Amino acid sequence: MLKTKPHSQRLGSTVLPILMLLLIGLFSAARAQQKMTSQPQKAAAQYVGTDTCKTCHDDIYKNNFESTSHFKTTLQNGHGCESCHGPGSEHVEGGGDVSKIISFKTLSTQEANARCLSCHDVKQQQRHFSASPHASSDVGCLDCHSPHYAREPEHLLVKAQPELCYGCHKSAKADFAQAYHHRVDEGLIQCSDCHNPHGTTTLRQVRAIPSGDAICVKCHADKQGPFVYEHVPVKTEGCTSCHMPHGSNNPRFLRISQVNLLCLQCHSFPAQGPAGPAHNQSAKYQACTMCHAAIHGSNASNVFFR
Ligand code: HEC
Ligand code: HEC
Ligand code: HEC
Ligand code: HEC
Ligand code: HEC
Ligand code: HEC
Ligand code: HEC
Ligand code: HEC
Ligand code: HEC
Ligand code: HEC
Repeated sequence: MLKTKPHSQRLGSTVLPILMLLLIGLFSAARAQQKMTSQPQKAAAQYVGTDTCKTCHDDIYKNNFESTSHFKTTLQNGHGCESCHGPGSEHVEGGGDVSKIISFKTLSTQEANARCLSCHDVKQQQRHFSASPHASSDVGCLDCHSPHYAREPEHLLVKAQPELCYGCHKSAKADFAQAYHHRVDEGLIQCSDCHNPHGTTTLRQVRAIPSGDAICVKCHADKQGPFVYEHVPVKTEGCTSCHMPHGSNNPRFLRISQVNLLCLQCHSFPAQGPAGPAHNQSAKYQACTMCHAAIHGSNASNVFFR
């Protein structure tokens, strides 16, 4: 549209853009006003186009925008810079009047989120953000992302996982430091493999796989079944009824150090719960999974022998 001009912040260099933009403004005014509902005080401003912003903000354009995924917002008549910062005609006319442009420094977390979500809430991943524990605790997009100053090559993150998350979740850091743990600190898997930090419809922002089963079986597919003989709690209470999801000081991330005690939590009250063992509790029987080896379910044995 407009030719690129030498970088200058003097008002003179903006006369041509302004003239052209007034023209363009005639066409886009109606649309502009529609989009301005969140910032009514700037209702008169019009879209001027990224090429105009570039004339004064050449450095941001070149170093902090052109190579980012948001460059796509300039394509197909998109508003580019102004899709986040709002229509900029008055800011430009004022020679860069900072009170006439949307600055993220002055927006509340909710206002900033709303601007981002105007595009991103249609996406599967971010759709539940507004109802997420993060949103309701005033954690916003910009706590984890930065459109111009991302530190990570992927996803415009301000920091890489897991450090990004540990900054606020100290207890998770302690979890993954235990003797037996998912190798998150070692970089083998990430917090976001199991959690969607943008929120889910499940508790604790834990992801599910499309079948509705726990995310665990995405990687531990042999535990998913269906089995001819299901071990009921695997399906009804989930993996975390026996395992700590992050890690634990017990082998196999078990909640309880001795397997027999884990089993007897459920299997010792025949009146209410499942049947107790058909055998005594002598030493011979203490390593329950020696015999009941297919503990997640079996196609051959109703008592989960191999
Ligand atoms: C005539 C030159 C000029 C043009 C054109 C221009 N700006 Fe600016 N802009 C400035 C100046 C000068 C400042 C204030 C100095 C600074 O903080 O860099 C500024 C500041 C800003 C700020 C920071 C406000 C703050 O204090 O946080 C934003 C955001 C901004 N401009 C966006 C835009 C966008 C978007 C466009 C295109 C619609 C644009 N500018 C076009 C000159 C310009
Ligand atoms: C995806 C939304 C988005 C787009 C598109 C965008 N910005 Fe920004 N801009 C931000 C956010 C958020 C900040 C606050 C700093 C940060 O988190 O990166 C910001 C900060 C700024 C600032 C304040 C000064 C500074 O260095 O922090 C200026 C100036 C600015 N943007 C200009 C522009 C220009 C010019 C364009 C187009 C070339 C543009 N922005 C495109 C979201 C956006
Ligand atoms: C005008 C629409 C629009 C707005 C507003 C917008 N984005 Fe985006 N965003 C996009 C598009 C388009 C992409 C590129 C998507 C793609 O490549 O599939 C993108 C990509 C991203 C990505 C992914 C980067 C990657 O490489 O995976 C992040 C993170 C992101 N945006 C965060 C934000 C944040 C934070 C805000 C608010 C400050 C914001 N966006 C505002 C349109 C928008
Ligand atoms: C608590 C930190 C956190 C918050 C808050 C957050 N994100 Fe993210 N976001 C991430 C992480 C980590 C990734 C990369 C892993 C992934 O894909 O989930 C990511 C990935 C993305 C992506 C690229 C992957 C995709 O889904 O296309 C987009 C776009 C994105 N975020 C947008 C947003 C927007 C918009 C907001 C605010 C409404 C936001 N994020 C809030 C941490 C966060
Ligand atoms: C800026 C601080 C901050 C960052 C960064 C952050 N969180 Fe959070 N997170 C919170 C707050 C505050 C809550 C809500 C209070 C709570 O439950 O601790 C929360 C809640 C959660 C919950 C739900 C806990 C529950 O009890 O329902 C999960 C899961 C979570 N965050 C995971 C992550 C992951 C994964 C990351 C990194 C991608 C991350 N968080 C980054 C602050 C943060
Ligand atoms: C292997 C999957 C998995 C990974 C990897 C994972 N989580 Fe979790 N996380 C879970 C599950 C499942 C829960 C729910 C536990 C429950 O409901 O008892 C949970 C619970 C949480 C909670 C809620 C409080 C608590 O401790 O119960 C927070 C906060 C959290 N995770 C943060 C993180 C962070 C931060 C990371 C990365 C450093 C991470 N998680 C990695 C599966 C995982
Ligand atoms: C992204 C893939 C992935 C997801 C999702 C996942 N795991 Fe794992 N899990 C692994 C890998 C890889 C190992 C191998 C052990 C290691 O880290 O060295 C492992 C190890 C384990 C172990 C210990 C195995 C052993 O032999 O000591 C248990 C128990 C476990 N996971 C349970 C779970 C549970 C419960 C969930 C859901 C909350 C889950 N996993 C989700 C990848 C995953
Ligand atoms: C009723 C308790 C219980 C439930 C529920 C349970 N597990 Fe286990 N799991 C165990 C026990 C006990 C072991 C240790 C077996 C052994 O010592 O040989 C184990 C071992 C494992 C192992 C490591 C050894 C192997 O067989 O690969 C993985 C991985 C695992 N479980 C994943 C899961 C997943 C994923 C789920 C949910 C789908 C789940 N578990 C549900 C009790 C349970
Ligand atoms: C969270 C509770 C829970 C835990 C922990 C648990 N079970 Fe079960 N188990 C059940 C339920 C419920 C049934 C189904 C009982 C029924 O259908 O009558 C069952 C069934 C069984 C059966 C099949 C026999 C029967 O009565 O149907 C065996 C064998 C068994 N469990 C062994 C174990 C062993 C060994 C452990 C420890 C590794 C264990 N269970 C841990 C709840 C549990
Ligand atoms: C030496 C092998 C062995 C060990 C170790 C063992 N069991 Fe068994 N278990 C059996 C046999 C054999 C049966 C009977 C199978 C049948 O009825 O066909 C049985 C049956 C059961 C049943 C089903 C009872 C019923 O009435 O249907 C449960 C529950 C059970 N065991 C739990 C446990 C628990 C809990 C432990 C650990 C404390 C354990 N077992 C250790 C061999 C063992």
